[in-house]
Amino acid sequence: MRRGRVKEWLASMKDKLLVITGGSRGIGREVAALFYRSGYHIVNLSRSACDLPFALNIQLNLAEKHWPEGFIKQLRSVAEKSQEVCLIHNAAALENDSINTLDADTLRQVLEVNVVAPQKLNKILLPSMKAGSSILYVGSTLAEKAVPNAYSYVLSKHAGAGMMKANCQDLAGMGIHTASVCPGFTDTEMLRGHIGNDHSTLTNIVERSTFQRLIKPEEIARTLLFCAKNQVINGSLIHANLGQIEQ
Ligand SMILES: NC(=O)c1ccc[n+]([C@@H]2O[C@H](COP(=O)([O-])OP(=O)(O)OC[C@H]3O[C@@H](n4cnc5c(N)ncnc54)[C@H](OP(=O)(O)O)[C@@H]3O)[C@@H](O)[C@H]2O)c1
Repeated sequence: MRRGRVKEWLASMKDKLLVITGGSRGIGREVAALFYRSGYHIVNLSRSACDLPFALNIQLNLAEKHWPEGFIKQLRSVAEKSQEVCLIHNAAALENDSINTLDADTLRQVLEVNVVAPQKLNKILLPSMKAGSSILYVGSTLAEKAVPNAYSYVLSKHAGAGMMKANCQDLAGMGIHTASVCPGFTDTEMLRGHIGNDHSTLTNIVERSTFQRLIKPEEIARTLLFCAKNQVINGSLIHANLGQIEQ
């Protein structure tokens, strides 16, 4: 966003702010669109920009150890202006790996994006988050179970569920609630890339849904909005997978 546009954006700040990682495509982009329609200002953090014209993009590789100080200041100043902040940890790295193949560097990289970056953002934003704010995690069915060849993803999604539960305990009394929404197979680049765009694997996946279809990203977005609006959903892990047929 140009400097003039950023000024304009700041001047038009709404009371409610969504800070989302991975809003450039897939589930995150749908979340940004839906929250905007529901009255939130949108800040997106990802490497490529979110093309939605109302989003303020902070282009950043979450895998990097050190984030620019200017970016942290910008994020804090925007959050301080808001009555309610909803922070959604959505970006994730998904590798094809297993106990036989996963090396330490890849594991560190995946943990940096899926586990460390969310905690960095929690720490940056928490001091500016007022009562009514929320911290939501996009988990996965693999936050609770495992499949072959997704080792680093499975372990980091389990860690994400633990973070959410620990956040709930540590934030008691602050009026800030937290939850994890765990999608099943959702029609995005991540899913299609992971299965190598293989038609027969896709058919197999679809057949494992009780509804015989993939989840639409907007269905996950609606679930996240519901969580943001309802403090009773606190410390909760929400299954959003259409019902999977177990094999
Ligand atoms: N699709 C599914 O079937 C499914 C199922 C269960 C859970 N989920 C979860 O849903 C969430 C969203 O996934 P999706 O399916 O929407 O995936 P997607 O379409 O591949 O989008 C992933 C997003 O994460 C961002 N991202 C990835 N690595 C990043 C990095 N190093 N730094 C900054 N941003 C990064 C990407 O932005 P850039 O590339 O522009 O950086 C992109 O915006 C993830 O947490 C995923 O685990 C998805």
